[in-house]
Amino acid sequence: MSNYHIKHLEEYWQVYRKSVRHPEHFWEEVAEEHFLWRKRWNKVLEWDFNTPIVKWYDGAQLNITENCLDRHLTTRGNKTAILFEPNDPNEPAQHITYTQLHERVCKFANVLKSQGVQKGDRVCIYLPMIPELTVALLACARIGAVHSVIFAGFSATAIASRINDCDCKLVICSDGSYRGKKTIDLKSLVDKALENCDVDTVLVVNRTGNDVQMKEGRDQWIAPLLESASADCPVEIMEAEDPLFILYTSGSTGKPKGMLHTTAGYMVYTAYTFKNVFQYRENDVYWCTADIGWITGHSYIVYGPLCNGATSVMFEGVPSYPDYGRFWNIVEKHKVTQFYTAPTAIRALAKEKIEFTSQYDLSSLKVLGTVGEPINEEAWHWYNENIGKKKSPIADTWFQTETGGIMISPIPYSTPTIPTFATLPLPGVQLALMDDNREEIKGNQVEGKLCIKFPWPSMARTIYGDHNRYRETYFSAYDNMYFTGDGALRDAVGYYRITGRVDDVIIVSGHNLGTAPIEDAINEHPAVAESAIVGYPHDVKGNALYGYITLKETGEKRNQDNLYKEINDMITSRIGPIAKLDLIQFTEGLPKTRSGKIMRRILRKIAHQESDQLGDISTLINPEVVESLIKGSLIK
Ligand code: WTA
Repeated sequence: MSNYHIKHLEEYWQVYRKSVRHPEHFWEEVAEEHFLWRKRWNKVLEWDFNTPIVKWYDGAQLNITENCLDRHLTTRGNKTAILFEPNDPNEPAQHITYTQLHERVCKFANVLKSQGVQKGDRVCIYLPMIPELTVALLACARIGAVHSVIFAGFSATAIASRINDCDCKLVICSDGSYRGKKTIDLKSLVDKALENCDVDTVLVVNRTGNDVQMKEGRDQWIAPLLESASADCPVEIMEAEDPLFILYTSGSTGKPKGMLHTTAGYMVYTAYTFKNVFQYRENDVYWCTADIGWITGHSYIVYGPLCNGATSVMFEGVPSYPDYGRFWNIVEKHKVTQFYTAPTAIRALAKEKIEFTSQYDLSSLKVLGTVGEPINEEAWHWYNENIGKKKSPIADTWFQTETGGIMISPIPYSTPTIPTFATLPLPGVQLALMDDNREEIKGNQVEGKLCIKFPWPSMARTIYGDHNRYRETYFSAYDNMYFTGDGALRDAVGYYRITGRVDDVIIVSGHNLGTAPIEDAINEHPAVAESAIVGYPHDVKGNALYGYITLKETGEKRNQDNLYKEINDMITSRIGPIAKLDLIQFTEGLPKTRSGKIMRRILRKIAHQESDQLGDISTLINPEVVESLIKGSLIK
């Protein structure tokens, strides 16, 4: 029996049981079966969740790009690796073969080397969804540089804080990006960010041809450098636990956390889960609509698919351009077999006329997936009926930037699916639900805080530069457990449903947003005294942001509509448009405990229109504000 590819439910259970009884043996077999190692490991796993320290395949040597590229050249050299679908439907799609991708990566890697980038250096990448983004990631990995992709929707302030946090040596960006009808100037955002950073080299990809400032001695167009670069770039031999990349995610407090992922475990786990969750077969055309700026894109557009020699579609545009049929137009055009997207996109498309969907031939689809947030029942049924035609199983996949790869998901065609359930843990994943006394809740039909009690290969190893915060955030809430920050329930048959965040992170349209950084941005507005952000249910975004704001008593009566705009502009410039508030309530005060802590539970109830379920408010120092909050008016 091959461990690598599960084909029916009985096999899932066999593999799962084995993976839990003998995890090291299990992951050793998976690693032996499918990868190219320069040197074998000495030890499969070493771990201690208290320190915490986790090492997989210690002693092994490899380069992940040899696994993603070189290994396929003889058997799949002419197969499409990246199928690029541009924003403009009239611009031809690009079929980049494994041979071509290999060559582009080698050239790009040589350019990085010629700019002085060495093994271990951090390189920040601020690019839209164009092939150069994938090439840049792999070029870094080829020479052992650590990539840190910054989603190309983040503001200059957010870019600067990420560049500085990882002390990055070189920045790769583009002149601009196309998003539907809009052309967005990305270079000027990088210029603004770099006013506050110490970076000597910026390589600029030409995509939109818009006018940009090139700073003498710092900025260079990459095209001429690539043209003269050699296509021969031997790989840097990496240790199993050498860093592969840093990716930032929001925390409930403080600055974003730079999750550090390492090489061997990440490779094995993302490749294994890609193959099984999407049931990928050799001639399939797989499409994940995420942006490579997020973990889903790293693991399931780039590394997982390419490690399996897959064809991975990369889409530059947006689902609404030129109209709401674009996704389905692409599925038909490229005969997509696996389609993986976010519930928020499904909800947005489900609101539009059904003709946008029904006019396309979607018969190529075999597997559907969702990720990033809970999928509500209505959206699930719409997806199942209109896209999958009740024939394609839906994999509701749960994972996190921190977990690196998918942890809970049905195995399509094996695990029976139920809407709103991510169903069962993947092999090697040992889940636990914890109660408020820090005890594990055994049995079924129970609900608790979701933890993981045994290491898995692709877990983040630290928060870059702050191991203490890593321990505090993930390993201090429960003994010997990784705490996810999510709540979950386990039903009568043992299926898991994720019930949502139990901390101050809010998932808006599938993006993680910490309340603290948004509040900090708002509080910078000169008229604002204090603010508190909570989430509330939204029919497309899943959650939207509701801000309670108290103003300074400056005597000046400000127009609240203007303030709404100014505050959102403030958020856009500090974080990015994804963190804008949908509703604002200006209030005289915020409900606080005697120790001065804002009682968010009350604010959440009011935002959810559940003011009749406020519970005990007697511990508040100012219970009178609650009444005024319930009566208060909103600006949207
Ligand atoms: C949420 C995204 C319900 C969850 C891959 C998690 C989900 C956070 C699901 C991580 C799902 C992700 N059902 N909730 N299928 N998938 N989440 O780091 O709250 O951007 O903790 O990684 O998204 O978000 P992140």
